[in-house]
Amino acid sequence: MIIRSWLFVPGDSERKLAKGRDNPADALILDLEDSVSDDRQEIAREMVRDYLTAHPDRARQQLWVRINPLDTELSLPDLAAVMAGAPDGIVLPKVYSADDVNTLAHYLSALEAREGLPPDSTKIHCVSTETAASLLTFHTYLDGVSDRLAAMTWGGEDLAAALGASDNRNPATGDYDDVYLMAKSLCLSTARAIEVQPVGVVYVDFRDLEGLEAECLRDRRAGFFGKIAIHPAQSDVINRAFTPSEEEVAHAQRVIDVFAQNPGLGTVGLEGKMLDMPHLKQARNVMAVVAQIKGLG
Ligand code: COA
Ligand code: MG
Repeated sequence: MIIRSWLFVPGDSERKLAKGRDNPADALILDLEDSVSDDRQEIAREMVRDYLTAHPDRARQQLWVRINPLDTELSLPDLAAVMAGAPDGIVLPKVYSADDVNTLAHYLSALEAREGLPPDSTKIHCVSTETAASLLTFHTYLDGVSDRLAAMTWGGEDLAAALGASDNRNPATGDYDDVYLMAKSLCLSTARAIEVQPVGVVYVDFRDLEGLEAECLRDRRAGFFGKIAIHPAQSDVINRAFTPSEEEVAHAQRVIDVFAQNPGLGTVGLEGKMLDMPHLKQARNVMAVVAQIKGLG
């Protein structure tokens, strides 16, 4: 299953947890980090574990957990509590390099054994750009990272704090400043280089669904797949934006067919346009995405 929408749900909110399960998001991220206050960490852990245990069927919607950063004393108790509920994956914030992902992978191996879960069944989605160091260590993912790593996203808010910035956007245009666009580009290119899913960053203005849709389409054009949501109304918009349209699918099929009918040719014409290998690859990508989206394939 390929995940289009990843909805964050604060782990200590009974109301929001209850709402999450009926939401069309392909995955929920039950949050133990920034949306939970310091004095509610323990209760959030228990609520998240109970929620996972109460919802073992993940066929329509996966359940992931964002733990606290590995360099805090909260992360191990987070993991020790929630692994009993067999989360589909762990979202790891504030990484410094691929070492953090590999460290988490070792912890998961031990906890999977303790819980009697299949080895390597718990995946990892890392938030790859929340520390200053993270911008300088993307190459470490190419030196060997755990196969558990399934997705990678970026973030501009914690990074701004880490860089000592007072703002991360140009006040005149609202566009991200250069360093955040670099972070975004490094996340995309690294994720594609190691064949994990590059996931678009949160769109914080949660009442502006048109703006969200436009940003989803921009992300998708650039190569990202899927987006983080923070409000239930965002999931539908994200799902739609990352589902290939009927026209796209029909076109992809025509491209595949024309190459199949002309074996041995590296370049062919279709509807007055030249097609070569990159077009065939794109068409196959569209069909692979469709096959992996539940209910379409
Ligand atoms: N997941 C599930 N349900 C949610 C939700 C979420 N992320 N965000 C809001 N809801 C629920 C609300 O509880 C409300 O339901 P209710 O009336 O039964 O209580 C309904 O959806 C409508 O919410 P709304 O009034 O439009 O928003 P809000 O002002 O209550 O909340 C936020 C706004 C941003 C605080 C809220 O969306 C939120 O907590 N988002 C997640 C934040 C987060 O996890 N951040 C960390 C990652 S960056
Ligand atoms: Mg944060």
